[in-house]
Amino acid sequence: MNILLIASGAREHVIARALKKSSTPIDLFCFGSSNNPGIKALAIGYTVGKLDDAQAIADFARQNKIDRAIVGPELPLSAGVVDELVKHGIPAIGPTKQLAQLETSKSFTRDLVSSYNIPGCAKYKKFSSLNGIKEYTEELQNSYVVKADGLMSGKGVKVYGEHLHSIDETLAYCKEIIDAGSTFLIEEKFIGQEFSLMSFCDGIHLAHMPAVQDHKRAFIGDTGPNTGGMGSYSDANHSLPFLTDDDIKQAQTINQATADALFDKFKTGYKGILYGGFMATADGVKLIEYNARFGDPECMNVLAILESDFVELCQAVIDGTLTQNHARFKNQATVCKYAVPEGYPDNAIKNQRIDVSEITNQDQIYYASVDQRADGLYETGSRTVAVLGTGSTISEAEKIVEEEIKKIKGPLFHREDIGTQELIQKRIKMMQELRH
Ligand code: AMP
Ligand code: GLY
Repeated sequence: MNILLIASGAREHVIARALKKSSTPIDLFCFGSSNNPGIKALAIGYTVGKLDDAQAIADFARQNKIDRAIVGPELPLSAGVVDELVKHGIPAIGPTKQLAQLETSKSFTRDLVSSYNIPGCAKYKKFSSLNGIKEYTEELQNSYVVKADGLMSGKGVKVYGEHLHSIDETLAYCKEIIDAGSTFLIEEKFIGQEFSLMSFCDGIHLAHMPAVQDHKRAFIGDTGPNTGGMGSYSDANHSLPFLTDDDIKQAQTINQATADALFDKFKTGYKGILYGGFMATADGVKLIEYNARFGDPECMNVLAILESDFVELCQAVIDGTLTQNHARFKNQATVCKYAVPEGYPDNAIKNQRIDVSEITNQDQIYYASVDQRADGLYETGSRTVAVLGTGSTISEAEKIVEEEIKKIKGPLFHREDIGTQELIQKRIKMMQELRH
């Protein structure tokens, strides 16, 4: 079986490894945006191109007689790559452009969730001008979030109290969005702890993955600018230390209800990964957003402990025969941390040599924004290498990551606090205080 992997970051590196671990022998091909040496070593065909060039991706797939495709990030989904592949009879793990609106349009998702009365929805209103903003922010008692509609690489969201401190700042930000030709939402702000709950979806049935918590802020203590995610952890019981069993159930129920709503609305099934971004609050689990793909870094946490066969799991998604038994995970805790260039995310230094050769177990590292050149490995200005540890507890996994990540040479930094007892205790305490 020839499988095409679309994209070439750390998330795709772990996907490639999971595919190659299968008992079904596969030939792996990759259409990436850079030379990822980890994926390259596993693939028999590799090309570099633009991830939103649906035609080029479909051509590469046809030339290589691809049987199945799996899409990593949102960009190819939003460019209709899956639609193009399906047109050529190549089934894909990843939704069509229409269904990927779940990620590409914040208003689409809020409208869907509220019109189907799915629990966890925020109060929200759509705007295309400055009219009525002041009144609505007052109605929400200044507890609100402004979200530009469309893919903004995580940069379109501003939270009142964090990024916005007065109505004038809010109006200025809204004007900025309008001037850029976009519309936006203003929605209720939730207070609590965020977590990701991803589910495989075959159009009808879901198979859930362990819950994971990502860390968006660049620096220790959740300070500094937002990033693509500096690191993440999951627990051996597939929950998180600050969540109840009921929280997990609520999140799973919301994912299932969303898949049902999509099927009802479009009469066609969503095939791929439903990634719910949730907030556990005093008032139950709330939906922050959906992504139409694996989280990055969350994908490393879950696929590294996948016990079942990933190729069979993907086949079940394509065939519509998915059960939870297709997605079985080891009872192990995981911690994943990204080493990122100095200055990341705002002024990351670029094109510097790095050296990962001293990492004890090379299976623990996942290459992200790197380029393998004739004279060595270079970072290319974004999240560079992810290091994953597993253990019977989060602390054990965290210690393994710290020991290894320090062995990477080059002008990189990482968050030492992710997965430490101290940070986790803070989260537990916050939730305890909220729930009382
Ligand atoms: P999003 O792009 O929707 O994931 O938003 C980025 C970040 O903004 C989230 O990870 C949250 O930290 C924050 N955020 C988004 N929506 C809300 C909300 N309704 N309440 C509180 N925080 C939010
Ligand atoms: N972990 C954040 C994301 O994948 O969007």
